[in-house]
Amino acid sequence: MELVTDSEYQVREIQAAPYASSLIEGHRDFGYSLETALADIVDNSITAGASEIRITAITSSDSPYIAIVDNGSGMAEAELVEAMKLGAKNPTHARLRKDLGRFGLGMKSASFSQCRQLTVISRKDGKDTCARWDLDHVASRNDWTLTIIDNPEKLTHYQLLTSNGSAVIWEKLDRLLGETSLPQGKSIEHANAELVKAERHLCQVFHRFLEGTKPRLSLYLNDRKLKPLDPLCSDHPATQKDPEEVIPLNKGNVRIRCHTLPHHRKMDSDDWDELAGPEGHVKSQGLYIYREDRLIIAGGWLGLTKQTELTKLCRIAIDIPNTMDSEWKIDVKKASAQLPPQVRDRLKRIIERFVGTSKRTYSARGKKLVDEDLHPLWNRVIANGQISFKPNLVHPVFSSYANQLPEDLKDGFYRCLRLVGSGLPIDTLHAELVGNPEAVVSAEAEIEDLRDLVYSLAETLLKNGVSTDVIKNVMQANPYLRDRWESANELLLEFLGKKS
Ligand SMILES: Nc1ncnc2c1ncn2[C@@H]1O[C@H](COP(=O)(O)OP(=O)(O)O)[C@@H](O)[C@H]1O
Ligand SMILES: [Mg+2]
Repeated sequence: MELVTDSEYQVREIQAAPYASSLIEGHRDFGYSLETALADIVDNSITAGASEIRITAITSSDSPYIAIVDNGSGMAEAELVEAMKLGAKNPTHARLRKDLGRFGLGMKSASFSQCRQLTVISRKDGKDTCARWDLDHVASRNDWTLTIIDNPEKLTHYQLLTSNGSAVIWEKLDRLLGETSLPQGKSIEHANAELVKAERHLCQVFHRFLEGTKPRLSLYLNDRKLKPLDPLCSDHPATQKDPEEVIPLNKGNVRIRCHTLPHHRKMDSDDWDELAGPEGHVKSQGLYIYREDRLIIAGGWLGLTKQTELTKLCRIAIDIPNTMDSEWKIDVKKASAQLPPQVRDRLKRIIERFVGTSKRTYSARGKKLVDEDLHPLWNRVIANGQISFKPNLVHPVFSSYANQLPEDLKDGFYRCLRLVGSGLPIDTLHAELVGNPEAVVSAEAEIEDLRDLVYSLAETLLKNGVSTDVIKNVMQANPYLRDRWESANELLLEFLGKKS
């Protein structure tokens, strides 16, 4: 203890280092989940130039572990010791472009959020170095003494490292495998469910690294090669991509591109479900923010607009460089961000325009479906401010059939049709449409019924002097026939063949 005189005060300085044991426990609770923790370790491997990363997760064994092994640059002893320190890099220091790191905390806090023992084996220029943090060790000694293992070749997981690069190994997986009071089977079930979630997360977060004919990265989970999952569905021919807009800011450019996903009918239903994810399409609409090609925000409008059913196909890609971290308030987990004010205003206008068009397209479609098409099967009727749907009794398919009936049966036939119309189960339909809109489809018509419809429509149009070319156009404008155009067209040709 040294006595220092500072103008009129008498000042003493004493060491008041925080308790290692409680501080390190605090590092476990940044709010990582398995998926965000794994992604943070993968970030480090990518920044270290790895082209191959293998994740092994062994949960159902007496000594469970998770290892993330890369073929990146590796670390020499001094670098590894530095990397193992909490807060290795100052967040205000500039980072190299392509560096996915943020606070110099990721590796430690991500690991400790999942396990109590973190071992890193690294090989650089053929030389192995190995260091370990064991939280039980830190707690019992109450100091930050890092363990260096000089003969890593004796470790069980040593052989995971097959080239230059690093292996990050998590053991004592207390968080993932749950409380010890849980029956073993249950915690393994939980761990496996977490792993399934993590797999989807990795496929989506790193999709830009995994895609293309020569991907920058091969990523494996338990020897399975992960496929890219592009939330913007950019490669699908039916995805609408607006031109890119650039907001130049003094620390770099923000690039914005609006995407409208294909309508579910234009897509394979498994792909559609995969794109929706566990939360569904409505919750997945919104902003997709990429920092140096790595997805950090997946969906949601960050308070700029509401998530609605009508806008569920809207997704906006936003690309930002890592030079703007402090403006975007990127958190330790790289799982949240805030919009800088200049971007917020501009983006709000972009969203209003984009989302506005999307809503108009939907309602225009809705209107056309019912009102403007020639010969709809159902009419939308507005009377006294109430909207109802009624079968179109003058539709050719009905009237031509009625005309074949004896007079005394005609009334009964129309009564039946009206009854079907008034029995439309509006409440059930509404509940189903709100809950699970994609699953609600029109019942398929029997080919005979479709033939009746096509024949009678064509007959009526011919009688009204419509030429054969135009008949085809009129029929294609009918959404019911358009959706089954292949069969409908065959039937039309069949009809016209009989006429000629
Ligand atoms: N797989 C790896 N290969 C090479 N170096 C690594 C690896 N993982 C971590 N490092 C080094 O450790 C440092 C600290 O990593 P981390 O705690 O994740 O913080 P940050 O990524 O924010 O810098 C990194 O900056 C890097 O120098
Ligand atoms: Mg990192």
